[in-house]
Amino acid sequence: MTTNESDCQVSEINYRDHWNTAYTKNPTEKLGWYEDKSIKTLELINRTNLPKNARILNVGVGSSTVIDDLIDEGYTNLIANDLSEKSLHDLKDRLGEKASEVTFLVDDLTAPEKLDKLNEVDLWNDRAVLHFFLSKAEKQAYFNLLRQVVKPKGYVLIAVFALEGAEKCCGLPLQRYDVGMLQNSLGEEFTLQESLNYTFVNPYGGERPYVYALFQRTH
Ligand SMILES: C[S@@+](CC[C@H](N)C(=O)[O-])C[C@H]1O[C@@H](n2cnc3c(N)ncnc32)[C@H](O)[C@@H]1O
Repeated sequence: MTTNESDCQVSEINYRDHWNTAYTKNPTEKLGWYEDKSIKTLELINRTNLPKNARILNVGVGSSTVIDDLIDEGYTNLIANDLSEKSLHDLKDRLGEKASEVTFLVDDLTAPEKLDKLNEVDLWNDRAVLHFFLSKAEKQAYFNLLRQVVKPKGYVLIAVFALEGAEKCCGLPLQRYDVGMLQNSLGEEFTLQESLNYTFVNPYGGERPYVYALFQRTH
């Protein structure tokens, strides 16, 4: 946790409240995970050569501007998910008229009630979400959902804190990953297309090493 993120304190953990509070009490650009442009995510999405009408599910999208940029690039079938309704409300507000291009789903990736109704997803996009799931049950729920909704030949793009990365974000402990751990979690159905290390510098100047991995469902 960065020192100035004082509004990200964990008391009793109701995760929905926790994240809503983080988004309510902090200006977006002061959130420890805020990047004004999702450069690496956009680069890797473009590498898939998916058509502009591909169904792209952005899980735990929060304050990310990736939806804004994908709309500007012409993508027309975007789904924005988060546990925090506040973050999706802010995103909707920011997008204005463009919000009509996006499906908003407030739902819990580890106990889905709406996300599990989706199918035929061409790309699952996660930056800085999976690493919050620590228990076996949470991880299983996340990967079961992913396998349920991502179509054959579909892509999975995951960016998480690398093994040498920080131990906490927004006051919450993390599971850090390398590419092999991501591959093991996804299983043999998914083939690694590309991976990279990227050190994100957060709004407080803190270095946050991430690993990005793009997989395709090939079996
Ligand atoms: C560190 S933020 C990253 C936000 C965004 N992906 C980005 O890169 O800026 C983690 C996000 O995951 C969301 N989140 C946490 N647990 C979740 C869950 N169980 N289901 C869906 N979203 C969740 C939080 O509300 C928050 O927006």
